[in-house]
Amino acid sequence: MLITFEGIDGSGKTTQSRRLFNYLKEKGLPVHIFREPGGTQLAESLRKILLEEELDERGELLLFEAARADLCSKKLLPLLDAGEIVILDRFTDSTLAYQGYGRGIDLELVKTLNTFSTFGLRPDITFLLDIDVETALERVREKTRFDEPLFLEKVRRGFLEIAREEPDRVVLIGSKRSEDEVFEDIVRVLKDRTGLI
Ligand code: TMP
Repeated sequence: MLITFEGIDGSGKTTQSRRLFNYLKEKGLPVHIFREPGGTQLAESLRKILLEEELDERGELLLFEAARADLCSKKLLPLLDAGEIVILDRFTDSTLAYQGYGRGIDLELVKTLNTFSTFGLRPDITFLLDIDVETALERVREKTRFDEPLFLEKVRRGFLEIAREEPDRVVLIGSKRSEDEVFEDIVRVLKDRTGLI
């Protein structure tokens, strides 16, 4: 099973994905967690470039996809084939929201590259943590070149559009609440929708 967490920077997805990882691990389930971009040596090197260098938007898109292809082929596909559970802090929806809706790159092109880099892998369930940009940015301690308010407004709208288009997969969770309240919602939905726990 592949469970992904998505949302703008400061939405709380890193905290919540780690919390779910610990929760499932304590229950004795075979679970792994990775962040994107990252999760392999190559993808972590690409992450550093992506966060620190001023890249052309096409190069940026391709490097996110290259990092993802490496993670998918080396880690995700083998683990999922072995029947293990994988939690991801960001996946393909981030590219559609940031590079597609945010940077304005053709959405169909981004979708095609997402399918290519993942070998067609699709999450079983996606938690989209939604929060207003102002509150989210107050929570971000180390800001990156992606943390521009107007850009994140477009990204947020993109995420909401994805949730509207794929309600069977994407669960919208309001995250302008306490960590505990958000986590309770996530566990409840995971129980209802997947029967995993
Ligand atoms: P993180 O801080 O959530 O780990 O993500 C690093 C940054 O990379 C974040 O600002 C969002 C951005 N990003 C994209 O623009 N496109 C992508 O496909 C991914 C995975 C992340």
